[in-house]
This record gives sequence, C-alpha cells and structure tokens, in this order.
Amino acid sequence: MKIAVVGCGHVGLVTGACLAQLGHQVIGADDDPQKIDVLLRGRVPIFEPHLDDLVSENMRRGRLRFTGDVAAASQDSDVIFICVGTPPLENGEADLSGIDKLARTVATQCRGHKLVVEKSTVPVRTGQELERILQVYGARSGFAHEVASNPEFLREGRAIEDFFHPDRIVIGASSEEARKTLEGLYRPILEQKFNCPVHSPCPQAPRPLLLATNIPTAELIKHASNSFLALKISYINALADLCEIFGADVTMLAEGMGSDRRIGRDFLRPGIGFGGFCLPKDIQAFVRLAERGGYDFALLREVEKINQRRIDHFVEKVRSALWVIADKQIAILGLAFKPDTDDIRFSPALAVISRLLEQKARLKVFDPKAMERTQPFFPQLTYCRDAYEAAEGSEALLLATEWEEFRSLDWSKIRDSMARPLLLDGRNFFVPKEMAALGFEYHSIGRPDTR
Ligand code: UDX
Repeated sequence: MKIAVVGCGHVGLVTGACLAQLGHQVIGADDDPQKIDVLLRGRVPIFEPHLDDLVSENMRRGRLRFTGDVAAASQDSDVIFICVGTPPLENGEADLSGIDKLARTVATQCRGHKLVVEKSTVPVRTGQELERILQVYGARSGFAHEVASNPEFLREGRAIEDFFHPDRIVIGASSEEARKTLEGLYRPILEQKFNCPVHSPCPQAPRPLLLATNIPTAELIKHASNSFLALKISYINALADLCEIFGADVTMLAEGMGSDRRIGRDFLRPGIGFGGFCLPKDIQAFVRLAERGGYDFALLREVEKINQRRIDHFVEKVRSALWVIADKQIAILGLAFKPDTDDIRFSPALAVISRLLEQKARLKVFDPKAMERTQPFFPQLTYCRDAYEAAEGSEALLLATEWEEFRSLDWSKIRDSMARPLLLDGRNFFVPKEMAALGFEYHSIGRPDTR
C-alpha cells in the first residue's frame, strides 16, 4: 500500500521504516525542515537500536522516502498515519494542535479517498473531533475520508522488536472497509511472515492478537494500558518504601508477587520512578480527560504523586549519607530516562540532578548516549568521557539509569579513585552484598543498606 507517515519522531520513524520493511511504499513527512534534512542525508535524529539500519536499507530499496511537504505526501498515499507529537499542555491535557493542523492540511489539500489513522497517543473522543474537522474542511473539495485508530505500544529502546512482535494490534474503525484495509496492511505481522534484518519472525511464537473494535475503545486501550504500567511501578515503589520501614527486601517481595501469573514480574522494578515521553504525560492526560468527563481518577493522581515523591526520597538518601550536599563533588551515572535510548524527556535522573544543583552540589556526569541532548539544559554539569572520569575524586556516585555497560566497569578501580566509596543505586542495579564486599558504602531502594 501507499502510506504517508506524518510526524517523524520516535513513533513515526519506527512505524514508517517497519511498514516499508513489510513491503509498503512509505513517505515520511514532517514540517520540521531540520529533521527532514537530517533524514535526507541518511541519518536518523534519534537513537533507537537498529533504526538507522532499517531506515537506510529501506531508503536504498526505494520503499521509504522523506519530505517536508505534508500535503503532497498525504495526496500521494491511500493511508495516512498521524504520528505527530501530543505533548502535555500546562494543565496536563494533551496538546492536539499538531493533529488539528494536519487534519486541516489533509482535508483542504487532498483529493480522492483517504484512510486517516491516528497512531499518536490521543485522548478518547479525538477520533470524532478528527472526523468533524476532516468533514468540515473537506466539504468544498469533495475530499472523501475515513478515520481509524491504531494506537502504538512501542517501548523506546525496543521499538522495532515491539513493532514486529506485538502482543496485540488494536484497530478502532467505524467501517468494515477500514478494518479490512488495516488488517491487510498488518497481515505479515499477524501471520509472523516477514523478513527483517534486525528481527526474525518467530513462527512458533503465539500470533499477535488482532483486536478490532470501535474508535473510542481503541483510544482508551492505549491510555488505560500505559496508566496501568505506571500504576504497577508506583505500587512497587510504595512497597519499597514500606520495605525500608519494616526491614524487608523489595526484590524478594517483587519476586514473591510477580511469580503469580495474574500479577506478572514485569514493571515491578522499584527505583527513582518512571519517566519518558509516554507514561508521565499519558497518565496526566488520562486524569484530565476523565475530569472533563466528570470522573475524578483519584487512583491515577496518587500514582503520579508516588512517582513525584521518588525524587525527594532518593535525594534525601544522598543527603543523609553525605550529611551536607553543598559544595560536594558527586558523580552521576546515567541521564536518559531509561537505558538504550538517548531520550531525556521527563528523565528522573535529570530531576535528581536539578535537586542536587539546588543544594549546590558539584556534579560530574556520564551517559553513553544522552549527554549531547542534556548539555543545552544543564550547561553547568561536568560532562565526562567515561564513568571513571566522573567517579574520580567524588564523595558519592549515584546510579540513575541502569545502562548494562555499567555492570562491566572495574568497580575496584572506581572505589579507589573516589574521595569516599559511597554508592547510591537509584535503580537497584547492583547486588548489595557484592558491593559491600567490594568495600562500598552501598545504598539502594527498598533493600537493607550495607555500611
Ligand atoms: C512505554 C510503554 O511501555 C509502551 O508500551 C508505550 O507505547 C510507550 O510508553 P517507554 O516510555 O518507552 O514505553 O518506556 P518503558 O520501558 O515503559 O519505561 C517507562 C519508565 O518506567 C522508564 O523511566 C523506566 O525506567 C520506568 N520503569 C519501567 C520502572 O521504573 N520500573 C519498571 O519496572 C519498568
């Protein structure tokens, strides 16, 4: 099929490259000329494992191209995927201006019939607003259209894997024709019959579920899923605080809970909380959306509050161990909101850094991928070429993002280079007794401290 993917961010680029890999003819469009310029030079403006290979391979094969002309891209396609950002407004509601602008462009500039698919995370009822805008602005030009919802469940750092091996594909449509079009578009994934340089099909794996429903349900599934993931994380973080009070071990607690198949082990890792451009903003948007519908989603407001309190809880651990933070040199390992991404949006690591700067700490930082993005926001940090440089002479070392490469560092060398062998682990990345045996004063989350 001929597909336009409008919005070349994390979701749009992965969606476009993967749909091209399935054999569709894809045009990626974005009204940010700089982003398009980078893509046309064969580079990818974000770090997502294997994405650059997939983009360049499909550009080379002529199945994927990019343009700044959104109208032309839409006109040349049968299906238009809306992947524009829906960032939070001041009041926490989703900013839908990008979608509104795209809808008016498509409705006034396109002819013929188009299937317009919302993939960006949108509050329920967006589909009907989109339908109305396309109707009103398309009336004069006889633009025919249909709206569908096809929410994405991609995790940053695992996005291509999640695209080719989804648990479910959700299609919200109001006509059989639209449903059939999208089902046909995803057939290779539903049947796990595709060839991909970075992810081979697993025929023996359970087939992804195809869930065809109406548009409001499809829209709600996304907000409901992300909010539940956030709820699990805040729940285990609240339990971690209780473990600290009662001298229990949250790792064993999570194992004891997660081994119940109805609960499941995933998303029960305690730490300095959830960040990223999805969970924090989706839960906020869901709470505001519920309020507009007259429902007070107090449960999710509490999930937000628990998450916000993680930062102060962790900084208090640092202060208590150091006694005085002011003028102390502290090393921070990790800036991205999680490993395997360079994304720093809503990063808990940066929230911790802001608090420490307020208390006049001198910070040396290292992150394998996210330093370049962080620099403009935090020019006053000392950016180091590796973890060793950050640790040297520091009174404390904080692990804020659990990059796997930190495991293979020479921790004896780090210990000897520090002014004090004080390690605070914000992601329970290490095993307490191992770090104690190495001679660290080791503190983590919800587990007994070792002096
Ligand atoms: C999330 C959803 O997982 C994905 O399905 C949706 O499409 C987009 O939002 P993402 O934001 O990329 O994906 O990251 P995710 O892996 O979900 O982690 C989100 C945050 O939760 C990270 O800051 C991570 O550190 C934190 N987290 C995750 C925990 O603190 N504990 C956990 O057990 C899991």
